[in-house]
Amino acid sequence: MTENILEVNDLVKYYPVTRGIVFKKTIGHVQAVDGVSFNLRKGETLGIVGESGCGKSTLARVLMSLEKPTRGSVKYNGQEIYGMGASGMRRLRRNIQLVMQDPYTSLNPRMTVGDLIGEPFEIHPDVAPKSSRRQKVQDLLEVVGLNPEHINRYPHQFSGGQRQRIGIARALALRPEIIVCDEPVSALDVSIQAQVMNLLEKLQDEFGLSYIFIAHDLSVVRHLSDRVAVMYLGKIVEIGTEDEIYERPTHPYTQALLSAVPVPDPSSRETKAIIRLTGDVPSPANPPSGCRFRTRCWKAQEICATEVPELTVRSGSDHPSACHFAEKREIVATHEAGELTDLPTRTL
Ligand SMILES: Nc1ncnc2c1ncn2[C@@H]1O[C@H](COP(=O)(O)OP(=O)(O)OP(=O)(O)O)[C@@H](O)[C@H]1O
Ligand code: SF4
Ligand SMILES: [Mg+2]
Repeated sequence: MTENILEVNDLVKYYPVTRGIVFKKTIGHVQAVDGVSFNLRKGETLGIVGESGCGKSTLARVLMSLEKPTRGSVKYNGQEIYGMGASGMRRLRRNIQLVMQDPYTSLNPRMTVGDLIGEPFEIHPDVAPKSSRRQKVQDLLEVVGLNPEHINRYPHQFSGGQRQRIGIARALALRPEIIVCDEPVSALDVSIQAQVMNLLEKLQDEFGLSYIFIAHDLSVVRHLSDRVAVMYLGKIVEIGTEDEIYERPTHPYTQALLSAVPVPDPSSRETKAIIRLTGDVPSPANPPSGCRFRTRCWKAQEICATEVPELTVRSGSDHPSACHFAEKREIVATHEAGELTDLPTRTL
């Protein structure tokens, strides 16, 4: 069995909501991440998908120990990361790297590409002594498909896709084991997205990397992910292999997200029903009781308001789903203006 490189258990991150300017009073909490558990296996890609504000980036920051969790545990290679000593934290920072969404703002415009990619070596000089740094940076530029002769150029002299490649080279500099990619292609054109995804795939094979790949669109993560976790309002609502999530989803939210993914074959469009979710995502400062999805769910019943559905494998399913009525749907429904309408549709 493949070993787990990360083990995340009941991770919680709440941000206080305060009132007052001088005397700040806490009047509540934004429950950005609330009881998230999963494992990341060595060499795998775990996709994390969910709408804006569901806590994906907060989860990424807490996993990377950039922020402290409210409670919960993250083990890296079996060792708890919170409370690690200084040397453990140094090792962790070296071995888990982040690629961010926006290549326009995540790179300092006043630094050359050479300085940007070589900066991690300043903090970890043992990885590359000064004399070999220029060569190392040029090697990294080549690895990510950029011209090593452009080492003295500035970020604005590159296109969006090339800037994301610079971000990836920077993340690779210290030869990490895990890269957390927080919406790395969301700001790019579709054709460039594919190139960057292919590059990430190639690097994974070459360097044996494990990825956590965050996106708000299920179609983006499908190609790269071995498993996918779907998040809603701070919680994972369904997690499974690529097949389990895309072919046999059991949570109404996943089914709704998938129904909105365009079908490439026009002849099958007629048979595809779109589940339209009405209403906004509730505030994470005041989430609904019981199941957090119940205010937008066409299947909600009384129990959904009183009991939090556990993320567990239920009978008739083969993977964990946080729904009291998890089931593969043969007929999907559209949910408009609070009404339930059954449509003659495809099997999800
Ligand atoms: N430092 C903070 N202080 C207070 N609230 C925060 C903080 N950071 C995030 N939040 C809140 O936590 C929730 C989750 O935010 P987060 O950025 O993790 O979502 P996300 O899924 O990454 O969204 P997006 O797809 O827009 O990037 C949001 O309601 C956000 O406003
Ligand atoms: S638990 Fe109830 S409200 Fe939540 S997804 Fe399942 S059916 Fe819908
Ligand atoms: Mg985000």
